[in-house]
Amino acid sequence: MKKFAVFGNPVAHSVSPTIHQMFARSCGEDIDYIKIEAPLDGFAKAIADFFEDKDAVGCNVTVPFKQQAYALATQLNQEARAAQAVNTLYKHPEGKLHGYNTDGIGLVADLLAHGAQLKGQKVLLIGAGGAARGVIHPLLAAGVSTLVITNRTQERAQEIVDSFQQEQLVSLTNQKLDKFTPDIIINSTSASLNQQLPSIQNVKFEQCQIAYDMVYGKAPTIFMEHAKQQGSSLALDGLGMLVEQAAAAFTIWTEKKPETRPVVTALREAL
Ligand code: ATR
Repeated sequence: MKKFAVFGNPVAHSVSPTIHQMFARSCGEDIDYIKIEAPLDGFAKAIADFFEDKDAVGCNVTVPFKQQAYALATQLNQEARAAQAVNTLYKHPEGKLHGYNTDGIGLVADLLAHGAQLKGQKVLLIGAGGAARGVIHPLLAAGVSTLVITNRTQERAQEIVDSFQQEQLVSLTNQKLDKFTPDIIINSTSASLNQQLPSIQNVKFEQCQIAYDMVYGKAPTIFMEHAKQQGSSLALDGLGMLVEQAAAAFTIWTEKKPETRPVVTALREAL
């Protein structure tokens, strides 16, 4: 049986095994998918041990190991190179470890599933950490006309802009955001995890069709509530992105495209 795993620390909370088992069932695959809590100083060894097994095909990687997974991979897709982080590893039949970042692909797929027209749209991305880096390339590839990054620590936003060198990508401080009317606003900060709102007093939500929080939970996040109050037509959390990034990984491993929406519904009901 093909073997898969998710590596993290902690990892007990991960719903990846549930998601991938649902994908496998819907695609007629029989898979083994486990959670592996690698020691903080033992990720490379844990990965090597896992792939010793000839049935091991691939794994997902979550916090705090995405940068280490990037360093371990011998081949990288464009998104992983841009993000300098890997969330999916695939052991090629020839033995090389291929690294992918499917987070941004997942975000774009979820936005499209909710009717977003990304081509020609103005997008505001709040936050400049690893989560933000992972989604920039797929958003630009989807044809957005402007991608503005803003962050509490503005230098980090500017560093990203400098490293990508794309004319559609600019950084703005919170003070300058009152002149920008985004069509889509994405919160990539970890603030929602602590029930906090990033400082976005000047962000204009009036023309916003979709406000997207990458975090998800049982109740709408504080950012989603704020966005609706300020005039955003729709506010979404990151559950769909989680499922879509997993689907992209599943396709890399099996070449099969699983149905995602029933999985989102099932996970939502179980929250
Ligand atoms: P991740 O990999 O999840 O993106 P990270 O690299 O630690 O994690 O980045 C977290 C992001 O959330 C950063 O943009 C951080 O802002 P700073 O660069 O100024 O630290 C942002 N963030 C976290 N808590 C925040 C808060 N309370 N208000 C505003 N931004 C916050």
